[in-house]
Amino acid sequence: MKIETDYLVLGSGIAGLTVAIKLAQQFPERKVLIVTKSNEDESNTKYAQGGIAVVTDGVSDDFEKHIDDTLVCGDGLCHRAVVEMVVKEGPKRLAELIQWGTQFDVNDTGNLDLAKEGGHSNSRVVHYKDQTGREIERAILAKVHQQPNIEILDFHFATDLITDQNACHGVWVLDEKTNKIFPIFSRFTILATGGIGQVYQQTTNATIATGDGIAMAIRAKAKIRDMEFIQFHPTALHAPNSASTFLISEAVRGFGAYLRTKNGRRFMLDYDVRGELASRDIVSRSIATELKKSGDDCVYLDCTHLDQVEFQKHFPTIYQNCLLEGVDVATTWIPVLPTQHYLCGGVDVDWNGLTSINRLFACGECSRTGLHGANRLASNSLLEALVYAHRIYTYLSETDSEHTLISKTIPSHYPQKAKSVSSAWVSKHREALQNLMQQNAGIVRHDINLKNTLKQLQLWKNECREKEREFAVTKDFLELKNSIEVSIPIVAFSLKRHENKGSFYKEGQTINLQF
Ligand code: FAD
Ligand code: SIN
Repeated sequence: MKIETDYLVLGSGIAGLTVAIKLAQQFPERKVLIVTKSNEDESNTKYAQGGIAVVTDGVSDDFEKHIDDTLVCGDGLCHRAVVEMVVKEGPKRLAELIQWGTQFDVNDTGNLDLAKEGGHSNSRVVHYKDQTGREIERAILAKVHQQPNIEILDFHFATDLITDQNACHGVWVLDEKTNKIFPIFSRFTILATGGIGQVYQQTTNATIATGDGIAMAIRAKAKIRDMEFIQFHPTALHAPNSASTFLISEAVRGFGAYLRTKNGRRFMLDYDVRGELASRDIVSRSIATELKKSGDDCVYLDCTHLDQVEFQKHFPTIYQNCLLEGVDVATTWIPVLPTQHYLCGGVDVDWNGLTSINRLFACGECSRTGLHGANRLASNSLLEALVYAHRIYTYLSETDSEHTLISKTIPSHYPQKAKSVSSAWVSKHREALQNLMQQNAGIVRHDINLKNTLKQLQLWKNECREKEREFAVTKDFLELKNSIEVSIPIVAFSLKRHENKGSFYKEGQTINLQF
């Protein structure tokens, strides 16, 4: 089987769906194909809680404040021009989402209800209860379905980019139902495959977040950057018996919740004048310091002093999930722990979302634009995805005048084999990888552990290559292979970095404190 398309979008989160809609509307005679490895709505996007940071209140807020907050949070490593561009584009991109049918909460005066989150000097986060991502995904998927020239191939796993002379001509895809691999040729390919959370044992991320797009880009020799900057969210629900990790949105602290130690001490003011609303890197590191001192398993988020009717109105999902874990937030502090949440780096892209490989673009969490620097400001991720999806569309609208498919005959490098890689081998290695990364590439890192980790990762990478030569690959095997291959730069870049910045902290180095 061989498929050809004009625009090939890998991933169906906010980044992929947005760019697909825009290209399909601009070029109704051309074909847009979305390939996604799970259900069409499965993504980190679907689980976003807090909202989108956008300047909408011209009275108390302005672009300069949002720009400054982003730059301070990024700890000197943001690209200023990118920050200015993204922040200023925000209102237009938000208006578009609303026009596409996305609901956002409004206040009693009929204006958008604005929440506050860590690192923000103003309330500016637009949201839909604590289900912003679910609402966005619903609305933009509905829009995709209205577009006759968009096709979605769900349960199809992109395995490798098809490249030739530093240009991308499509992708190899595994049909997860038949386990057959076939090529899709495209004139332009857009990576929107999201983050890497599943390389860690504890993550807020969805199970799809295995770094596939970044690993494919690495294999195709695309430039990647800032992989050492892993963001740990300060407040994931500590529920040791639960299979997944549930996030307690930063908006809950914006609503007035306090962080306390087991014995009730409100400790954040000892670390930063902004207290619970300092940026995430500072709050997560402070919690880690407190836990190291006390030996406790978690700290607590105290919401008992808050208006409970309003709390349930703003955070119905959080309220219900806490109840399921036996925590009534009206009377009981929520046990919380910092947890892997976001990758600030990724595939390096220019102003137009173009990677270092011709005809290959990237947007959303898999990309590195320069917006986040060493640490992403809360709720700037959905914003970045929207803005860069728009920039890719604008660039292609202005430059893509030809309409000829570059279809190549490329010999399959996936000859069919009779026997698949054993699932027990994959599970065992996945568990070992997550454990290794959790221990050694977490909030506080050490050179010696990083060096040993890198050696182990190289060994596993080679083992995967051998397995691939001998056996037929499966989705689970490919996810493991990609997880190992994206862990390598996380660790290698951590070894190379000699200055602590933002979310990156190696013990024994200069600390750059900022207030
Ligand atoms: P995703 O939404 O993760 O989508 C990636 C897509 O790629 C998925 O459809 C996936 O199936 C597909 N895919 C991956 N690999 C392959 C492959 N090999 N082949 C085919 N398809 C593939 N950010 C904010 O700004 N505000 C928030 O309030 C917020 N809250 C968050 C809460 C949680 C719990 C989490 C986990 C993240 C949150 N974030 C938030 C971050 C934000 O949600 C993500 O960074 C953003 O949604 C990423 O969008 P994306 O389109 O790049 O990737
Ligand atoms: C949250 O709601 O705390 C997550 C916001 C984000 O990741 O930007």
